[in-house]
This record gives sequence, C-alpha cells and structure tokens, in this order.
Amino acid sequence: MRILVTGGAGYVGSVSVERLLEAGHAVVVLDDLSTGHRAAVPAGAHLVAASYGDEAATADLLERERIDAILHCAARSLVGESIADPARYYRDNVVGGIALLEAARRAGVGRFVFSSTAAVYGVPDATPITENTPLRPINPYGETKRTVEDAIRWYAAAYGLRSVSLRYFNVAGASERNGEVHEPETHLIPNVLRAAEGRTTLTIYGTDYPTPDGTCIRDYIHVADLADAHLLALEATAPDDPRTGAAGEPALALALNLGNGDGFSVLDVLRAAERVVGQPIPHRVGPRRAGDPPILVASNARARDVLGWAPRRDSLEEMIGSAWAWRRRHANGYER
Ligand code: UFG
Repeated sequence: MRILVTGGAGYVGSVSVERLLEAGHAVVVLDDLSTGHRAAVPAGAHLVAASYGDEAATADLLERERIDAILHCAARSLVGESIADPARYYRDNVVGGIALLEAARRAGVGRFVFSSTAAVYGVPDATPITENTPLRPINPYGETKRTVEDAIRWYAAAYGLRSVSLRYFNVAGASERNGEVHEPETHLIPNVLRAAEGRTTLTIYGTDYPTPDGTCIRDYIHVADLADAHLLALEATAPDDPRTGAAGEPALALALNLGNGDGFSVLDVLRAAERVVGQPIPHRVGPRRAGDPPILVASNARARDVLGWAPRRDSLEEMIGSAWAWRRRHANGYER
C-alpha cells in the first residue's frame, strides 16, 4: 500500500509510520510540524511539511503520490486547551478533518483510518467501556473527534468510504526510535518521569476519588501495540474486505476501542515508575483536575475480534520502562 500519514511526525503517528515501513508499505507523512518533530519521521518515509487542512493541495498530493489509504493521526489533542480555546479545535480538527475527507474524495482515496479518542465517551455510566456506550463528550476535544467520526460514517453511506475509527485510551511508552515529547506536557507518565529526572515534582491530582486508592484509574496502552492496530485497521479497509463492507453492499465505518482492558491508578503508575527507575520519585498531592472522570477502562473485545489484534506489551513496567529508556537516550527530547 501507499499510505499518507497525517501527523506522522507526532508521537503516535511516528511510531505507526515505523510499523508501516517495517511491514513493507510506502509512507508519505503530511505534518505541518506545529507540534510534531522533523527528527521523528523515519528516513524511509517522505515528509511533506504542510497542513492537511488545505483541501486542494492535499488532493494534489494524494494524486501525485498515488495514495491508496490515509491514516489520519494529526489533530489538536489537549483537553484543557480545548476548553480554553474551542475555536482552535473546531478549526483544526473539524474544518481541517472535513477538508482532508474532501481531498480524499476528490482524489478517489476510499480507505481511511482515523485517530479518535476515549474522550468521545465523556463520563461513562459503566465500566469497561464498550463501543456501544453512548457518546457524550464533556470537552471540545472529544466533541470534535466525535464530529469527525460522524462525518466519516455519513461518507461511508453516501460515498463508499471504507474506514476504521480507533478510539485510543491512554497511550504510553516508546519505540526504540520515537517517544513522547509534548510542550506543554500534561500527561501522567511523562510527568512522572520528569519528576524522576529531578526536573519537577509530580502533582497527583486528587486522592479522594471513589476508587480503591482514591486516585483516578486509566487504561494505558503501549504505543507500539497501537501501531500494530493501525496496520491491521488499514488492512481492514481493503476494497474486498467484508469488515468495511461486503461486495455490493454499502461501505461500513467501524469504530474500535484501543486499550489494554486493564485499569491502573495514578498511584499504581507512580509505584511502577519507581520500580523502573530504582528510586523514589518526588511527588505531592494536589486538588482534583477539572474534568477528570474517576475511571476509564476499555473493553477491547471488538478490536480483538475484528482486527485479530491483542496488546502484547501490556504491563506498566514495559510501557514506563520503554519511555524511560527513550528519555535516557534523548535528554533534550528531539533537540540535538
Ligand atoms: N495526572 C496526575 N498528574 C499529572 C498528570 C496527570 O495526577 O501530572 C492524573 C490525571 O488527573 C488523570 C491521570 O493522571 O487521573 C491520567 O491523566 P493524563 O493527562 O495522562 O490522561 P487523561 O486520562 O486525562 O487523558 C487521556 C488522553 C486524552 C484523552 C483521554 C481520554 O491524554 O487525549 O485520555 O480518556 F482524551
């Protein structure tokens, strides 16, 4: 396959690019480098430093590069920022997302895999979360991802777009080559490791949640397992693949949770990180962070069934260990 990966210079995108190249596919990365890193794009991929939101230019690129399928990882993805500046999320995620879908339609690219998020569920009534759980996002980030998922579904019915939307839970870990570098960094595991490096003190956002140790529970999934799922999802969009539409039938838009199916509390993560780094990690307890649901754990049964996928690196030690190893080799992130 010849695959366009938007956001291929970002954390999830770059590790997915590595996996696609390894499987023998040709990859073009479309990334405006606003949050991505040029150095994260493997040598085997061709980087086009531009926005996916320019419909005409993207359609030209798809045609010129004879692209078969799109993996759309690019997006604004910070919950807090989305509440403070929803316009940015509607513009980049929704307006930009539709421009990309339109470019695909113009260029005749009928295969699409979309990076969605567990944030589409909001605060679920029950756990683990299945794909049938009602979508009730509580922030513009989740809402904009849901809106694009909806558009993709209607594009399937009307234009025959074959697609898989992947609802990521909490992505963690690193590959040999690529790791997580966000500025600002809001995620738990990088912040724990930053504290382990002596750069900051970790703040635990609340210990009074209705969970066994009082801290929030999340489902952490290794970025390399996520990359495996992207490859399988792209394969599922093949023109003759019944998973995204049997011959002569309308195309189907699949939505699949990607989590490891197990929950870990903030304190579980802290303790596992202390075991990985071999020393206590400075931390303090702070107030709750607005908008954090107490428990988010995926049912990954559908992804297992439909894709034949299973998380293979599902221990916290493996996820945190790979992130720690990467940070030790990249003390200044992607800067030299
Ligand atoms: N946390 C801390 N201290 C920190 C950072 C986080 O205690 O310095 C806590 C949070 O309060 C939360 C847990 O660690 O309870 C995980 O927080 P993250 O920020 O790492 O991740 P979230 O669960 O908030 O968000 C992730 C993705 C979002 C996505 C969401 C979907 O980052 O993009 O899952 O559930 F929307």
